[in-house]
Amino acid sequence: MPTAHDRVPVESPSPRAGEPASGQPPVGPSAGSTLSRRRVVRVLGTVGAAVLVGVGGYRVFDTAAVNPGHGQAYEPWRHWRDDAGPMGAVAAALLAANPHNTQPWLFRVNATAIDVDVDPGRHIGSVDPYRREQHVGLGCALENLALACRARGLRPDIAVLPDGPDARRVAHVDLTPAPAQQDDRYEAIGHRHTNRGPYRALAIPAEALAELVDTAGLPGISVQWIVDPASMAVLSALLVDAAEAVVADESQSRDGFAWFRGTDDAIQSHRDGLTLDAQGLTPLTLGLAKLLPASTRSSGDAFWVEQTRTVHTATAAAYGVLTAASPDDRVTQLDTGRLLQRIHLTATARGIALQHMNQITERIDAERLAGQRATFSPRFAGVLPPGAKPLVAFRVGYPLRDARPSPRRSAATVTQRTPR
Ligand SMILES: Cc1cc2nc3c(=O)[nH]c(=O)nc-3n(C[C@H](O)[C@H](O)[C@H](O)COP(=O)(O)O)c2cc1C
Repeated sequence: MPTAHDRVPVESPSPRAGEPASGQPPVGPSAGSTLSRRRVVRVLGTVGAAVLVGVGGYRVFDTAAVNPGHGQAYEPWRHWRDDAGPMGAVAAALLAANPHNTQPWLFRVNATAIDVDVDPGRHIGSVDPYRREQHVGLGCALENLALACRARGLRPDIAVLPDGPDARRVAHVDLTPAPAQQDDRYEAIGHRHTNRGPYRALAIPAEALAELVDTAGLPGISVQWIVDPASMAVLSALLVDAAEAVVADESQSRDGFAWFRGTDDAIQSHRDGLTLDAQGLTPLTLGLAKLLPASTRSSGDAFWVEQTRTVHTATAAAYGVLTAASPDDRVTQLDTGRLLQRIHLTATARGIALQHMNQITERIDAERLAGQRATFSPRFAGVLPPGAKPLVAFRVGYPLRDARPSPRRSAATVTQRTPR
């Protein structure tokens, strides 16, 4: 996010009374609260400054400044273990990482099988024109689902894309009683969050990075660790350039911003999308930012580029890139999601933070779609082995602070119970 992803929001796509539509100038009685805004900007310093340009009123309750992470939208993080049967496996699946927190899934469940469908309307438009990220996110959910089935004494036999690559059903999972399995990755499901805050200036030993990767049953997907300073500098510069290109692309900027949930009302009613809470800010900065008027898309874009430059790339201990020979293949994309989720869960269990960073491939897609000369693809290829095509990228490191959860729709909302 603040890729047209993870930029700081502070505006609801459905403007509330007294709030502006995206990009519109300040209106209403509170539009001129410059003095208090200026005072707070001083406190926030560089981190928050870009968030603050905007309009609106005093938003303590609207943004849940005093009680972040509260309410129904976060209940799925508290109750994901409650159901000992297949519905409990769905409750774990929907906590998976997924692009812009679009949650592009639907489940059909009975006592002996679970079907996972793509919800085709839940996507990020021009940010993911080939729906690669959407299918990677579905793969992440499939991995949580498989872990949760095993923990419940149900052996999951997974058939991916049983109806072909263009069908809505992305997986059929047969469930057979079996001894329950213990797994650290299962235990980590409720603690895993995307961490967009600063990481410590500490290298991660090569063995520790290698131990994050378990490719069992996922042939053809590789992880490239970018750790040497020269390659990291190349990739960091590329990530910043790509972030700038995303925000300069009106369509990508708008399509990403449509998933920002800038008020508590929006979070509690949508239960999806990107939030201020998930930006990795300090409690003080977060609390102050929430008291301020809603910001515009352009200020959110600027904040994201700034964070990419000064926090995300500046404090990364290492980058990981998942690659394959055929990145457009849907099975490859689902398998990539499964591996990505495994890495994130193992990292969580070991105290290593992870942030997905996909603006480079998002720009590769945009150039390809527009038939433009490829500029990002050859630069990315320069830090990867010959023939290794990138699907997703992320940074890892030892975190300075914990990440906060993002909202989720409930298992009941995304599940249909079917006869056996
Ligand atoms: C395929 C994919 C692409 C993503 N791309 C980005 C990204 O470019 N930047 C970012 O900060 N987060 C990215 N994310 C993380 C999601 O925004 C995040 O998983 C989602 O908001 C839910 O939050 P959570 O992971 O903390 O549960 C991506 C996740 C997936 C699965």
